[in-house]
Amino acid sequence: MCGIIGYIGQNKALPVLLDGLRRLEYRGYDSAGVAVCDGQEIITVKAVGKIVELDKKISLENKSLQGNVGIAHTRWATHGKPSLENAHPHCGCKQEIWLAHNGIIENYAELKKLLEKKGHKFLSETDTEVIAHLIEENYKDDLKIALQKSLKLLKGAYGIVVMHAKEPDTILAVKKGSPLLVGLGDKETIIASDVSAIIRYTDKIVYLEDNEIVKVNKAGFKIFNSDYEEISKEIKKVEIDKNEIEKSGFPHFMLKEIFEQPKTITDSVRGRLVLSEGKVKLGGLESVQEKLREINRIIIVGCGTAYNAGLVGEYMLEEYANIPVEVEYASEFRYRKPILDKNTAVLAISQSGETADTLAAIKEAKEKGVLTLGIINSVGSTIAREVDAGIYNHAGPEISVASTKAFTSQVIILALLTVFLGRQRQMSFITGKRIVEEIENLPNKINKILKQEKDIKKIAKKYYKSKNFAFLGRKYNEPLAFEGALKLKELSYIHAEGFPSGEMKHGPIAMIDKNFPSLFICPQDSVYEKNISNIEEIKSRSGKVITTATVGDENIKNISDQVIYIPKSLEMLTPILAVIPLQLFSYYMAVLNNRDVDKPRNLAKSVTVE
Ligand code: M6R
Repeated sequence: MCGIIGYIGQNKALPVLLDGLRRLEYRGYDSAGVAVCDGQEIITVKAVGKIVELDKKISLENKSLQGNVGIAHTRWATHGKPSLENAHPHCGCKQEIWLAHNGIIENYAELKKLLEKKGHKFLSETDTEVIAHLIEENYKDDLKIALQKSLKLLKGAYGIVVMHAKEPDTILAVKKGSPLLVGLGDKETIIASDVSAIIRYTDKIVYLEDNEIVKVNKAGFKIFNSDYEEISKEIKKVEIDKNEIEKSGFPHFMLKEIFEQPKTITDSVRGRLVLSEGKVKLGGLESVQEKLREINRIIIVGCGTAYNAGLVGEYMLEEYANIPVEVEYASEFRYRKPILDKNTAVLAISQSGETADTLAAIKEAKEKGVLTLGIINSVGSTIAREVDAGIYNHAGPEISVASTKAFTSQVIILALLTVFLGRQRQMSFITGKRIVEEIENLPNKINKILKQEKDIKKIAKKYYKSKNFAFLGRKYNEPLAFEGALKLKELSYIHAEGFPSGEMKHGPIAMIDKNFPSLFICPQDSVYEKNISNIEEIKSRSGKVITTATVGDENIKNISDQVIYIPKSLEMLTPILAVIPLQLFSYYMAVLNNRDVDKPRNLAKSVTVE
């Protein structure tokens, strides 16, 4: 949450900072600001709203932002509403120290009181401003020493970039529980909270660990550990195709990412299917392969879409690998007293690999000494580094705030994991082979669904003014009901709820009338007839019904107002197909309602606060 960037080099800082902010905007977009040092003073411009507002403000104010050193921030509000006062960068009373911060300072109120007693005057409602005043209070003539002293008093999570007018060619950065990395370019160094802000300039990256401080100046960079000793760190080469962070002709990243799914599924399974043995190969699990034989219970933790993918995994792992599975919201798991034993594994699912709740759940599991695993898309992210072993999705960067290709890649990885663990246990060669074969067919089948984009748009045109929506499904597609509702809510702000179809009659059906439509996920699977009865129940109450059904199912037209067809597949893999119409439907519902599809209000892509 929030995006941070800092630049120091031989070029003008502003264009790099603004470009970085645009790339980081998906992390938060309620206000933004830049601070640039021209060698003598630090000049700042801030604006409420998206980066385009900041662009306008910079042109309007015509301030001299010509320096080669600067920091910038795009905000997702936690403490204080989106306003100019609360926008970063923040400064101390003397306006010499400027910093941008990502995370939450938990003891900020206490520190604020203390600093106010010492005469500090605060201008914002943020927790961040406290850090600026604290560093100012501790500053004698060395920013690094002042920062070190201040860090000792901070409780919470942070990624901080900071500069001081008296040390005009230096930027310092530090992180704790919030991502920060350093990009090493040609005579320039860029610090950012996300690789997407750096990749245009360099592929050489140093990932900071918690409590490490980096000091950057024109001569280079130095990293200090938590004991403030200088350390050397490995420079990693990141491999991101630059096209992956562009829209490539699509009007929105979301649509591009929906259409990428045949490819991302292929990428997720590439080199992992062993058809001749009905098995899958998962290099990331090799180190724990033998331990996994002993596992007799898995707890999956995740948030939002990742949680929904976990629910599909629960059905798969229980049915095919015979392992009892529980799926927990990471935000709940971390605060309960989970009963864990040495044969339990905790599996985190996260696209960003930075979600604070999921990270905390994994830390809690590690504390208890159990095996921790991850299904993570973002290579080198904090959760990826935290877990004992894991599987990367290889779905490429997901920029749109609404998760689409990450979901299908999470579900496909769960299918691979099911075959992997199943074959270690009772799963036969034939069953393994059948699943692996069908996995290979999925990209073509997804392409067939994508061809119905225009039909799905037409359906959205009939419903985009609805105030409410229900999404219903059973068994493997029950989690899709939740995912469909989540997509519609977050993108179009229409109230939507997902239910297991069988639950409607226990209460929610009371809401159904001609103005309350439902979308049923109803492929021809083992619960097809049950679903049909539930559709009839809705129709008898005048509810409109859109159905996602299996190609060739003509009968379903008699009880549906609209039908979207998906190709037949193995029951356990149907969610990967059935989710595509839901994604397209939500996309067009949002477009028709003139919503900001890639950046829905109040949201941010990676949720690095509790
Ligand atoms: O990066 P993560 O997968 O850990 O993110 C988890 C959720 O915040 C995320 O899936 C969220 O629910 C999406 N915006 C949904 O589209």
